[in-house]
Amino acid sequence: RAVPEHMLSTGELLTANQGAAEVLRGGGLVAFPTETVYGLGADAENPAAVARIFAVKGRPADHPLIVHIATPDQILHWAREIPTMAWHLARRYWPGPLTLILRRASCVPDIVTGGQDTVGLRVPDHPLALALLKVFGGGIAAPSANRFGRVSPTTAAHVREELGDAMDLILDGGPCHVGIESTILDLSGHQPRLLRPGAITLAEIEAVLKQPIAQPGNEAPRVPGMLRSHYAPKTPVCLIPPAYLEAEVRWHLGQGQRVAVLSRIALLLPDACLWKGMPDYPAGWARELYARLRALDVQCFDYILIEAPPIGADWQAVRDRLERAASAHPISSPRSSRGISAP
Ligand code: TXA
Ligand code: MG
Repeated sequence: RAVPEHMLSTGELLTANQGAAEVLRGGGLVAFPTETVYGLGADAENPAAVARIFAVKGRPADHPLIVHIATPDQILHWAREIPTMAWHLARRYWPGPLTLILRRASCVPDIVTGGQDTVGLRVPDHPLALALLKVFGGGIAAPSANRFGRVSPTTAAHVREELGDAMDLILDGGPCHVGIESTILDLSGHQPRLLRPGAITLAEIEAVLKQPIAQPGNEAPRVPGMLRSHYAPKTPVCLIPPAYLEAEVRWHLGQGQRVAVLSRIALLLPDACLWKGMPDYPAGWARELYARLRALDVQCFDYILIEAPPIGADWQAVRDRLERAASAHPISSPRSSRGISAP
């Protein structure tokens, strides 16, 4: 296409989406932008089409998909025994980066839910996604448009690089403005539970519901986003407290290794490392993180060293993604054994 979809007017968007909706109706796969990350979508009520998503991603069959819907009232089609809390949250945060896990209605195919009795639902906050959902009319089952375990895509180019011809269509909505996956809240049990932190924080949800929310526990992973190693580039990632960063970089350079550094301030880093400055607020990190990791990953560094983010509650989602990225390649020798101590 000559003009990316994000440069079109609303009317033109609807027209452009007719083609995409046709692809979905024919059982095809459409990659589309959301405010969080790009999704790899199929008609949620077509099990054969949804099966193609799992094949393309290399995703294990027991890991359920989120169903994207156009409006909050469509909850009624996809879920049953809907608690009042769900309506409060949907009214407050949809369209937006919040996924609600609810008891599923009988129309939801097993393949979408990984055989569970619940379904994840969300209304994405992106004009192109909303236009597509409106024209299509049904629900779109979509995981992030990356291979299983890898970094989620935040531009159409990322999707093309990673999944190439495996999709029938990629809609280009420009860079995602949130940049990390939605907050997932499980409302299917007796107590609401946070399954995945995201841009909408625990504190914000607690303020709306006026009750405490259970935090992610150590129970067996029920969601792939909860696997310890996830969202990971191929290059080993290490999280380094700011006070150790400079010494750590020097140690790696001393070993003859090539390192890239992501941190808020450059400190006194040697010129021999590649430094990329990061914003000093969590939403800025979230927006830039995956694109930064992808760009560095193709440059074949020995390590990507990342400043460990602050402990505060507003950093929870960014910290979660960074810790998962770092746990894919555990570092064998602790810093202390390499003679590095805090300055
Ligand atoms: O921001 C997002 O959520 C993006 C965009 C495309 O909407 N989607 C996304 O999908 O991150 P995915 O498949 O990469 O991650 C969805 C997460 C998985 O951890 C999945 O297990 C969980 O949602 N999930 C979906 N349905 C569930 C259910 N019924 N019970 C528990 N977890 C569920
Ligand atoms: Mg994913």
